[in-house]
Amino acid sequence: MSSTPGDIASIVKSALNAIKGASDLAAIKLVKIEHLGDKSALAKASQSLGSLAPDQKAEFGKIVGAGKAEVNSAFEARVTQLELERDARVLVEERVDVTLPASKLPKGGLHPLTILTNEISDLFLGLGYRVAEGPELESEWLNFDALNIPADHPARTMQDTFFVEPLDAKLVLRTHTSPVQIRTMLENKPPIYVICPGRTYRADELDATHTPVFSQVEGLVIDRGITMADLKGTLDYFAQAMFGPDVKTRLRPSFFPFTEPSAEVDFFFNGRWVEWGGCGMVNPKVLQVCGIDTDEFSGFAFGMGLERTLMVRHGITDMHDIVEGDIRFTKAFGLGGR
Ligand code: FA5
Ligand code: MG
Repeated sequence: MSSTPGDIASIVKSALNAIKGASDLAAIKLVKIEHLGDKSALAKASQSLGSLAPDQKAEFGKIVGAGKAEVNSAFEARVTQLELERDARVLVEERVDVTLPASKLPKGGLHPLTILTNEISDLFLGLGYRVAEGPELESEWLNFDALNIPADHPARTMQDTFFVEPLDAKLVLRTHTSPVQIRTMLENKPPIYVICPGRTYRADELDATHTPVFSQVEGLVIDRGITMADLKGTLDYFAQAMFGPDVKTRLRPSFFPFTEPSAEVDFFFNGRWVEWGGCGMVNPKVLQVCGIDTDEFSGFAFGMGLERTLMVRHGITDMHDIVEGDIRFTKAFGLGGR
């Protein structure tokens, strides 16, 4: 069963038609298998050459070879053409209009309180202080007793405390950053120059100048010959760096069990005096609890409210704006920094 030259002509014709009719690269792939593959009519004609007589073989072989060459070159040409068509289509379909407005994702930013904390840390690092830290869940002993505020002392009620269950674990949400003073003095020998910014908690009602979760920055200096004049000079420097040279501050005699003498620092804002923080010379009783020789060393400490610092700096008249987490507040005072 062998093909005739006429068969070859029709095989070639139908292969050329199929190649012409293939409309994309997937279709031409199938055409290749059917008309150029091992099982194609052309391949079979080629295989049948072996069984022909030598003179027939030469003549018929030429016809088959020419047919194969024609189909192959038509195939290659069609593939090239279909690839060009595909590339042109992809260029149109996947075009990106670079002049369209970009969809911007908002960048994350620091909260105004974080920016302020960083700024205060930088300020005191520049004076040679270290930044100390302590836990927000604090032992009653460090938050009160070691600071000369015994359990039955009326001074405990100065700060409305969140006690944490179980009560016999004697843990509180720290009411101030002052326990970090004790932690620092127990772990380090003087001279000590530290500040400690951090979150603090009190069962206070949220109003224009109070929030139950607020922040303080504690300062502690223990060295030889430290006096009230050093405290006053440091506070003036701090206040001017925070509020500028025109801010009005005053020192008011006060009482804290852990300082003697004690004072409160106020600033004038929005038509009235607002308390900024407390301060004083570290009570020798506190130094002794921490094993510091009171004949050799003395020191001062202060603790300022950070939300209130922000209020003056940005003219915020209501604490609600700081604590309510409104993104407009963060955008106005936080993202850009100062
Ligand atoms: C203290 O917390 C003392 N530990 C400060 C101190 C440190 C004195 C070192 C001496 C030596 P006082 O309770 O006054 O003090 O709080 C200090 C400051 O924290 C206040 O002046 C105020 O700025 C801020 N503050 C207190 N309670 C709140 C509150 N509920 N909301 C916002 N700020 C507050
Ligand atoms: Mg006070």
